[in-house]
Amino acid sequence: MASVSYENVTKRFAGDTLAVNNLSLEVKDTEFMVLVGPSGCGKSTALRMLAGLEDITEGQIKIGDRVVNDMPPRDRDIAMVFQSYALYPHMSVYDNMAFGLKMRGTPRADIDRRVNDAAKILELGPLLKRKPRQLSGGQRQRVALGRAIVREPQVFLLDEPLSNLDAKLRVQTRIELQKQHRALHATFIYVTHDQVEAMTMGDRIAVMRDGILQQVAPPREIYDNPANMYVAGFIGSPTMNFIPVTVNGTTAKASGFELELPRAPGVEKGILGIRPEALDEHAREGHGGLDLKVEVVEVLGSDQFLYGIVGGDAITARVDPALKVAPGDRVRLGVDMRRLHLFDTESEKALM
Ligand SMILES: Nc1ncnc2c1ncn2[C@@H]1O[C@H](COP(=O)(O)OP(=O)(O)O)[C@@H](O)[C@H]1O
Ligand SMILES: [Mg+2]
Repeated sequence: MASVSYENVTKRFAGDTLAVNNLSLEVKDTEFMVLVGPSGCGKSTALRMLAGLEDITEGQIKIGDRVVNDMPPRDRDIAMVFQSYALYPHMSVYDNMAFGLKMRGTPRADIDRRVNDAAKILELGPLLKRKPRQLSGGQRQRVALGRAIVREPQVFLLDEPLSNLDAKLRVQTRIELQKQHRALHATFIYVTHDQVEAMTMGDRIAVMRDGILQQVAPPREIYDNPANMYVAGFIGSPTMNFIPVTVNGTTAKASGFELELPRAPGVEKGILGIRPEALDEHAREGHGGLDLKVEVVEVLGSDQFLYGIVGGDAITARVDPALKVAPGDRVRLGVDMRRLHLFDTESEKALM
């Protein structure tokens, strides 16, 4: 088992692409850390440097207390699972899992024990004799993970391992992976562009943008106290409402409504951030509310989303699914003032 630390790590590719920009991140022993951000933000590059598949331009990476910058990949005691987990089609599940160990000259009895242990954890026991084509997508994914597990690495690196699965299977495998993480007592670093995967799986989430780490915190903390507008907008669906306001003392004035802030933020303007679920059909005394001109209604059974306009601003609200609303209606919405955010107009950093 091992911790991992990135210390001021930068990766510059030829042609001057700054893929990872001065990354400092500590992953604790046995932690499930998720790196999340849109395509191209440097997630895979960060993982590949840790695995030894890319050189580090500046800074250092440690596994445990060993600096691994110049250590060959095979000595790093890491196993990586990719999105495209090519299994050998002509080999059985057993042989697919055993192959890497055979290549390394691991004794036969040892291979057998490790493959059977992994098969037990992954519930692949009854499938060991099958060929990949006789497996479902989720089962193949488990075999790919099995190949990593039999190596008994200190750290598992997973790069978008669920991206090729359909929606339902993705949810099942997500839960599966969390169980396996617990069973293995190993450190997991998991890369995804999917904020739902990040929120549901991570002990902590590291949000990246353009090679720069934006915030590292447990999911709840990231959701409730995003450090800036980027994090606030990336995490959560439908996305947080952002509304430009002028501020006078504690009064925030948007184009179509006014709100009393819990305290004076000490700025004259800002961007108000309100999550859709912080808006509801209950008006509240003393804080003001807003009148939504509803344009689109989405009923999802457990939720109802209203998309509309207040003054000059587009607003999304999540209301009680039992509320009868039609496009064209005006709905008076209250704001949960404990869940209000205010961001600086220039720096986009959270002010409250
Ligand atoms: N081998 C490479 N050569 C040049 N540029 C690369 C290479 N690999 C990745 N990049 C660039 O580095 C940036 C980060 O890429 P990547 O780490 O793959 O992002 P992510 O995994 O978050 O989608 C992108 O701009 C990408 O085009
Ligand atoms: Mg990637």
